[in-house]
Amino acid sequence: MKKIFTIVLCAAALTLVSCGERCQLKKDLKKALETAVVHEKAQAVYMEGIEGKSPQTFIDGKIKVANPHSWISGFFPGSLWLLYEHTGDEQLKTYADKFTRRLEVLKDYKGTHDLGFMVFCSYGNAYRLTGDEYYKSIIEQASAALATRFDPEVGCIRSWNTGRKEKPEEDFMVIIDNMMNLEMLEWVGGYENITRTHANTTIKNHFRPDYSTYHVVAYNELTGEITDKRTAQGNADDSAWARGQSWGLYGYTMMYRMTKDKAYLDQAVNIANYLIPRLPEDAIPNWDYDAEAQCKDSSAGAIMASALIELYGFTQNELYIETAERQLRSLSSDAYLAQPGENGNFILKHGVGHYPAKSEVDVPLSYGDYYFIEASMRYLAL
Ligand code: GLY
Repeated sequence: MKKIFTIVLCAAALTLVSCGERCQLKKDLKKALETAVVHEKAQAVYMEGIEGKSPQTFIDGKIKVANPHSWISGFFPGSLWLLYEHTGDEQLKTYADKFTRRLEVLKDYKGTHDLGFMVFCSYGNAYRLTGDEYYKSIIEQASAALATRFDPEVGCIRSWNTGRKEKPEEDFMVIIDNMMNLEMLEWVGGYENITRTHANTTIKNHFRPDYSTYHVVAYNELTGEITDKRTAQGNADDSAWARGQSWGLYGYTMMYRMTKDKAYLDQAVNIANYLIPRLPEDAIPNWDYDAEAQCKDSSAGAIMASALIELYGFTQNELYIETAERQLRSLSSDAYLAQPGENGNFILKHGVGHYPAKSEVDVPLSYGDYYFIEASMRYLAL
């Protein structure tokens, strides 16, 4: 009897401790989002004076901006929309609309596979939160443009346009990041053959037996044969570039949400189970899981946290939410979260754009900020 009483008491105490930690994290994330609002409003004021551009990063005391055709252009308006959703602040909505409309030129742009990032983070959130048909028409047009990049022989949407091989037809490149662009096509509907063929081909050809992923798989666009498997932003062809692993995890979790195809859930679970034991103490990965050179990538941590919260919703696997909690605790701490006025008014510090090219190393990144806001909101909604 005494033993049972002790066990019950211990269980109650444990529940209290873990509730305490979770309550504390929620408080910290609410505070982090207040800080994020201050940052994003300051950026909006600054960006109003720079016609047509979006903020990308902050290097050597200067904000680097990007054209609408850059893959990062949708993250700033997307962050403003998410923070508008979180706060109901009309000023954020006005800014969000303004910076979203800067991207209208993308509606018939066929030059990139990144239209999903660019248009769905901006126009997608805009339509979701307002129901304004103008936004929807841009999403539909951009989806039609994106679909033109699909090659039925390869079974994938083409990622980059220019390859390394002498014969360009042998370098039809598909990068793991491209999984993220399927969400917009799934949402619009009518592109199921493209999205599911792309996702299935990627399961077959991008992943290694341990469920880590190559960054780039190149195909012969005439025959569909694989001509190369390599990296672009990772440490080595056979290494696990951190953001690529996070894109894969997020991409298959999202595809399960959109399709309810169990194969995508299984893929996401296998990726998560490969990645989680490889995380360091603070759960924010090194820029490449296999690199000796150490430099955290907060963007990879934020994308992974957001994906794990969604995956937890589908699996109820406590390991996934506990890992996301470790990541969000780190990202909302002073080690990663910038104070107002610092960091060019980007939210997170310590991201890595392209380590091998020595480009954007240990800097803030607009996409890290977007997924940190999304992950924090997903956690608060649990
Ligand atoms: N999609 C490009 C990157 O993750 O750097």
